[in-house]
Amino acid sequence: MKKIKIMSVFGTRPEAIKMAPLVKTLAAREGFESLCCLTGQHREMLDSVMEIFRLRADFDLNIMQKQQTLSSITTRALLGMETVLEEAQPDLVLVHGDTSTTFAGALAAFYHKIPVGHVEAGLRTYDKYSPFPEEMNRTLVGDIAALHFSPTPANAENLRREAVRGEIFVTGNTVIDAMQTTVRQDFRFAAQELNALDFENKRVIVLTCHRRENYGQPMHDILRAVRHVVETHPDVEVVYPVHLSPIVRACAQEELGDVARVHLIDPVDVEQMHNLMARCCFVMTDSGGLQEEAPALGKPVLVLRRETERPEAVAAGTVKLAGVAYDEIVRLANALLEQPALYRQMAQAVNPYGDGRACTRIADAIAWHFGLRDEKPADFKAI
Ligand code: UD1
Ligand code: UDP
Repeated sequence: MKKIKIMSVFGTRPEAIKMAPLVKTLAAREGFESLCCLTGQHREMLDSVMEIFRLRADFDLNIMQKQQTLSSITTRALLGMETVLEEAQPDLVLVHGDTSTTFAGALAAFYHKIPVGHVEAGLRTYDKYSPFPEEMNRTLVGDIAALHFSPTPANAENLRREAVRGEIFVTGNTVIDAMQTTVRQDFRFAAQELNALDFENKRVIVLTCHRRENYGQPMHDILRAVRHVVETHPDVEVVYPVHLSPIVRACAQEELGDVARVHLIDPVDVEQMHNLMARCCFVMTDSGGLQEEAPALGKPVLVLRRETERPEAVAAGTVKLAGVAYDEIVRLANALLEQPALYRQMAQAVNPYGDGRACTRIADAIAWHFGLRDEKPADFKAI
């Protein structure tokens, strides 16, 4: 019998981390042929994930440029995908989340009348410009996709309210699947700077900040707030793996470059990152992925954004929306450092985002869609 040819298209670090376990699950299924197409929107940060998960690309568009704009990423990916899709002729294209690669990959598949499966579907802030351009990317992909794989029931509900076409499945987030292979009790860090951290006697805060809507004043205010928190707490150390974006690096260097007990380091591989989070005190971030990972590890999160499309861990009490204003960030970080009862309350491990079986559900759903399986998979229910 002819195998169903499934092409996973991704290009940035978070997409790769979240697609890696799925690509592996699909490759292990008898009825499927799994292909992997990288846009290369990221380079070093993407290659690092491919290496850790031992994935091999069948196609690599290698589009990254040092000063890339939203238009250059989208057009280069769209044009590159044309040749790839004509050559490979997949039965289904899978895209993930909300990046420019996600949008261009889905649009390219649509132009070739190839059905699209959207992994991590239905996250919304309903603010067109925040996160920018992600909210519009994922909304547009929601219109294109035939199969929607929503991590949580609330994400699926958003799609139903929007009356999107196609089938909606609640699967859990594949990042929880990925974490089952990365987090280890006996893990030793590759970087000497991380091994040298005294996790017993110091309170280590993990910081990341990279979002486009935070470029400029918000990012400066956020990092100045972090500086104040470190300077007023002698037992606090901050580890900030700084994104390779030149804009982010310049801002990080300017605000935190000369601050004692702030470790500005290059991006670390995903195993280092997950194990660093597993040992830290709490997380301050504007990242999407960290908001899902830290709660699973029982680590409080202060979200350095005005909104979040991930309200589940906020409702569970592990995540607080700190915003981007200096005073409020300082106030919330101080509260976590100075009120043990508040810290304990927020440090409950909660896992509204998955049970480690998201990839199995997605593979089952695809099999059902193509008639290889009789039953539609049961929806993920938060544990
Ligand atoms: C992109 C996504 C964002 C996601 C983020 C994850 C879009 C529009 N944005 O934003 O949704 O949260 O990835 O990290 O799709 N760079 C390197 N090497 C790398 C990666 C990046 O040098 O491996 C530098 C390049 O100079 C590049 C710049 O970072 O031009 C920005 O990368 P880009 O993908 O445009 O934006 P991100 O902020 O990474
Ligand atoms: N991450 C990583 N190394 C780092 C910083 C982050 O491996 O130095 C991982 C992190 O654990 C998460 C993902 O990258 O899985 C999040 O990516 P990012 O914050 O770049 O994007 P977002 O999730 O905001 O789209």
